[in-house]
Amino acid sequence: MPFAIGSVRFLNPVFLAPMTRVTDHPFREICAAMGAALSVTEMVSAEGLVRGNKPTRDLLPPLKRGGPVAVQLFGASPGVLAEAARICQEEGADLVDLNMGCPVPKVVRRGAGAALLRDLPLVSDILSAMRKKLSIPLTVKIRSGWSSQENVFLQMGKIALDCGVDAITLHPRARSQGYAQPARWELIRLLAECCSLPVIGNGDVRSPQDVLGMLESTGCQAVMIGRAAVGNPWIFRQAIQILSGRFSPQKPDLLEIGRVLEAHLQCILDHYGPQRGLASAKLHASRYIKGLEGSAAVRAALNRSKNLPQIIDSLRSFLSQKSPSLGSSPRPFLWGADSSNPG
Ligand SMILES: Cc1cc2nc3c(=O)[nH]c(=O)nc-3n(C[C@H](O)[C@H](O)[C@H](O)COP(=O)(O)O)c2cc1C
Repeated sequence: MPFAIGSVRFLNPVFLAPMTRVTDHPFREICAAMGAALSVTEMVSAEGLVRGNKPTRDLLPPLKRGGPVAVQLFGASPGVLAEAARICQEEGADLVDLNMGCPVPKVVRRGAGAALLRDLPLVSDILSAMRKKLSIPLTVKIRSGWSSQENVFLQMGKIALDCGVDAITLHPRARSQGYAQPARWELIRLLAECCSLPVIGNGDVRSPQDVLGMLESTGCQAVMIGRAAVGNPWIFRQAIQILSGRFSPQKPDLLEIGRVLEAHLQCILDHYGPQRGLASAKLHASRYIKGLEGSAAVRAALNRSKNLPQIIDSLRSFLSQKSPSLGSSPRPFLWGADSSNPG
């Protein structure tokens, strides 16, 4: 299972995908504890970083953290992206990733994200400039093309190789498709067959079984999970168990859901403080309890909460009603009170 991208070695091939406003430091820590071998930050503006914009710099991973983290940059200027990459390396990033898939109009209007798929000579300049500034691995994350008539992922594989990039992630949908059609895993297979770089597959991995399915059906070296990990970081542990040959992976019981949720909220509190962490806490907490009987009313209450302690209180009372042993549980598992490493 272990494999490497450039100089960075990974214990397993299951990664957390970058998601804006989702893959913040607390969520990355939880996923790393569950076994995600690499996590990627939300996309970070290269311009903002170079200008020294504080909210942008705050997106960089803290030095003390659980596992390898890639910082994902977006931008369209070779000089600015190269300088931003240098800053990331100096600040302790393990890898730097270039975003070439973001379809959001605000980003593509500035020539960044998926817009780069329409200007491959510029991409060569950008990647060469970034490569020159970095001694840590450089990766790119792409969609298959600007539109389904303009697939460029195979050309991108060649450009990435020529520019000294260490790995390429493919989300096999065109920019114009948004999420409308299913991800075309056969394009990942094509890229893995044609490109000698490590290929990371991404898109529509919904279950731990899908991780094995994507690895086997495409020949990619690693799988990146996005939406299916939100409120469900256990997917990493379960996928690793399946890859290690266990037929039915361990599902979390209510007690474990409560402990991980509590640990996650504590991490949010420590990282942001009670006020700034509110949005992250609401988003993640709602997803952990989604689907549990009686959770709709609690989720509505979470949305109305004014601070983090209020959120923690309503969740604690909801979960301890459902499982009385939770109310008397010791400290959360992440800080080692009770259990072994879930990864
Ligand atoms: C809320 C959200 C935010 C995202 N933000 C980013 C981002 O900042 N950078 C990026 O490369 N992809 C981003 N993506 C795309 C995901 O990384 C991933 O490519 C896509 O969701 C497909 O994978 P999935 O089916 O496992 O979710 C985002 C997706 C979602 C749902």
